[in-house]
Amino acid sequence: MQFTLLASALAAFAASAVSASPVSNAARMILDVWAPTIISPNASTVWTEGQQYNVTWDTSNAPVNISNGASVRLGEDGQLTETTLASGFDLRQGWVTITCPSDVIPGNNYSIILFGDSGDQSEQFSIISPMQSILGL
Ligand SMILES: *[C@@H]1O[C@H](CO)[C@@H](O)[C@H](O)[C@H]1NC(C)=O
Ligand SMILES: *[C@@H]1O[C@H](CO)[C@@H](O)[C@H](O)[C@H]1NC(C)=O
Ligand SMILES: *[C@@H]1O[C@H](CO)[C@@H](O)[C@H](O)[C@H]1NC(C)=O
Ligand SMILES: *[C@@H]1O[C@H](CO)[C@@H](O)[C@H](O)[C@H]1NC(C)=O
Repeated sequence: MQFTLLASALAAFAASAVSASPVSNAARMILDVWAPTIISPNASTVWTEGQQYNVTWDTSNAPVNISNGASVRLGEDGQLTETTLASGFDLRQGWVTITCPSDVIPGNNYSIILFGDSGDQSEQFSIISPMQSILGL
């Protein structure tokens, strides 16, 4: 599970590295090995489809320079999905607002992956439908 995620993260990094110059790649690899701890969502989090939430993470040990290209992707069963929830924000901010997608199957095995240059995965959390939310299920 972790291995698959790491492999995906490395593949994403390798792909993004192709377009940049060798010098900046080297600089990034030294400066940017930073995997901030995700605070929310966590195991007690429930997102309702279509609602807005903040993904938050700890920035207390953030490096001075962080490369561009941060993104938040949805994970399911520890696997990266194709769903990007946010991108192009500053990792040092410590939070980004996302909208919970409406086209997912409600379940309790979702996670988010926060990409800087490394991919950091949240705990698994739940996504429920608006109807489940109304009914308090
Ligand atoms: C878990 O996430 C919720 C929001 O979904 C947040 O209110 C809570 O503080 C987080 N718990 C911890 C231990 O950080
Ligand atoms: C996200 O966090 C920002 C900054 O704390 C806050 O202004 C905003 O209302 C939050 N949004 C949500 C959906 O919680
Ligand atoms: C951060 O990047 C800026 C601009 O590229 C550079 O001038 C500065 O020296 C870098 N700081 C560190 C600590 O690498
Ligand atoms: C994850 O949740 C979805 C939706 O409930 C379900 O279809 C899938 O089988 C679950 N996977 C596991 C391993 O529980």
